[in-house]
Amino acid sequence: MKKSDAIQKAKSLLQQMTTEEKVAQMIQVSYADVGREEALRWASLGAGSFLHVLGDNAREVQRAAMQTRLGIPVIFGIDAIHGHGLNKNATIFPSQLAVACSWDPELVEKMGEVTAREVATDGLHWTFSPVLCLGRDTRWGRINETFGEDSYLTGELGAAIIRGYQGEDLSDGEHILACAKHYLGYGEAVGARDACDSEVTERKVREVFLPPFKKAVEAGCATIMTAYGSTDGSPLTSSRRLMHDILRNELGFDGFVVTDWDNTKSLVRNQKVAKDIEEASIMAAKAGNDMIMVTLDFYEAMLSALKNGAVDISVIDEAVLHILTIKYEMELFEKPEKTGKADCFSCDEHLAVALEASRKSVTLLRNNGMLPLDSACKKIAVIGPNADDIRAQYGDWTYFTHPHPDPSRTPVRPYVTVKEGIEALCKENGVAFNYAKGCSILASDEDDLETAVSIAKDADAVFYVVGDMIDQFGEYKDRADLNLSGRQTELFYRLQATGKPICTVLVTSKPLCMGDVAEKADAVLCAFNGGMFGGQAVAEAVFGKLNPSGRLPISFPRHSGQLPVYYNQLPGWHGGKYCDLPATPLFAFGEGISYTTFEFSNLNFCKDNYTVTLDVENTGTCEGTETIQLYLHDVVSSVMTVGKRLIAFKKINLAPGEKQTVTITLSHEDFALINAECEAVVEPGEFILMAGKSSKDEDMIKISVTL
Ligand code: BGC
Repeated sequence: MKKSDAIQKAKSLLQQMTTEEKVAQMIQVSYADVGREEALRWASLGAGSFLHVLGDNAREVQRAAMQTRLGIPVIFGIDAIHGHGLNKNATIFPSQLAVACSWDPELVEKMGEVTAREVATDGLHWTFSPVLCLGRDTRWGRINETFGEDSYLTGELGAAIIRGYQGEDLSDGEHILACAKHYLGYGEAVGARDACDSEVTERKVREVFLPPFKKAVEAGCATIMTAYGSTDGSPLTSSRRLMHDILRNELGFDGFVVTDWDNTKSLVRNQKVAKDIEEASIMAAKAGNDMIMVTLDFYEAMLSALKNGAVDISVIDEAVLHILTIKYEMELFEKPEKTGKADCFSCDEHLAVALEASRKSVTLLRNNGMLPLDSACKKIAVIGPNADDIRAQYGDWTYFTHPHPDPSRTPVRPYVTVKEGIEALCKENGVAFNYAKGCSILASDEDDLETAVSIAKDADAVFYVVGDMIDQFGEYKDRADLNLSGRQTELFYRLQATGKPICTVLVTSKPLCMGDVAEKADAVLCAFNGGMFGGQAVAEAVFGKLNPSGRLPISFPRHSGQLPVYYNQLPGWHGGKYCDLPATPLFAFGEGISYTTFEFSNLNFCKDNYTVTLDVENTGTCEGTETIQLYLHDVVSSVMTVGKRLIAFKKINLAPGEKQTVTITLSHEDFALINAECEAVVEPGEFILMAGKSSKDEDMIKISVTL
């Protein structure tokens, strides 16, 4: 239904509602936490939404809601973060961080579409995705949920997945509501400790953290989730400035805002800006939170606040209007129990998109010529804790990894681990294959380094698959020490001592401090949490069936003490480094190589139409894909600006020897900075425009541009 019609209908329904019915619309209930009976009671009170309930249970709740006086349907939400992963039959994609390596908005949009279709088929309407927090301090437990460290890339991929989730028509039964989260600056918590304060100013917010949300709003994102933390001492949940003034009035957001889990209670219990739940409820509602996730006390507290005049009913009316408008837009009143075709779960079409995503996520970070394997390689050894562990490969937010690893749930096929992928291609290519786990992620009595070393000795090439495990990442699981845990590094040295070529494969939630395990390896392939087909994609890269094209959306620190190590920091002028370590990362933002090489030349900028052109040539011997990354530096400006920031990118596929002129159109706003008054302005003068294969200076060509 058209927005304008939906608003009219919502307004007239609102007029018929009692105060109790209105307040209940704002409540979101966790089915798992309250259980069936309480859930049905809340449905009959008119609770607006439920989360984390699937199938028949959801249908029963919906029927109870439809039987209430006004028959207002419930919206069901779920964390379908990289596919509808909490349903065991669903297509599971690489994590947001992994798929961000593709730098491919079209692919990410398709991922959103597939996820939406599967979520909708389960009778649900809403995913709490995408995460638009920036992954700038990799100690944070939720780095895997981000699109990496860069504001521009995050905005582009975020907008793409939102388009995929929501499609053109929210009522077509195949699309669902997106939820851009966590608003705002949540990933920047001090010390990377989840839900701590983010020590950022409004200028910084506008420069770095707001732009992805701006793009989300422009893409029509229907809902936004408020973050747990605070910025500069103000809890996000109670920030009318951020939610009302900036999000609604400035950015023009017209959907509804949901708090994060029990945020309203946290205002009392944790953040201590409210003396009791009534005061907290008033704060949350007045700030602009339309839906209250799981703080069920909000209901009585708000009714009491309304009764004693502490809050005006217009505050509630506004929130309920936002919620009802979306319900009408989705045509839930006519189709409260929409369900698609059950056979769409992991159907061939969906699996093909997952495979494409896994392939495009694979990032080659080092190669001294070991890869792709040639016919001289007759025997392979696959070793390492994450070589054959689908839990590690899936990462967070799946049916058997979230919120805690659940050994009673077994993974459902199809999926391909690295071990399985390489083994299959060995068979196809007549190469002998051997596997040993060697060690665990956390040292264990079962570690058996000897067997691993002995199969390495007997092989022509060793693939050593390292990383982390679900106990080391996710909410509440920030790490102070990012070194490879357990005996992973020790085993690497033992393998290296065999003298055999070693490729290190990273199946990890985020950049860890790899040290020699990356630096002394002959090749390094990164898959992060590569999803169902992460292992197959790695194997294809190993055998040259796939020319890796991933580029890092995030920098790898050499040492936890260097953090943060993101590429676009303000300059310092006392050397800007440590006396015991360089300041540079081990692998930089944008980095990634392939089995061919590319040359950039003739970078040009036309001031009349803001068009950038450059020539890109495939100078190697096989077909490959390059990502042209455009960065900008403002030479002299009223506030300090970063050495370079990404302003555009484009992927291009070239045959060996092929050369193409690439055109990228910029806008005047791409040259803007946020000045000390928090305004976005373009300050005339000189800019350096850079076209890079990565964010590293040595990978760039540059020109000076004067505006
Ligand atoms: C997380 C959100 C998530 C919500 C609902 C919270 O703990 O921070 O990202 O959407 O739970 O599961």
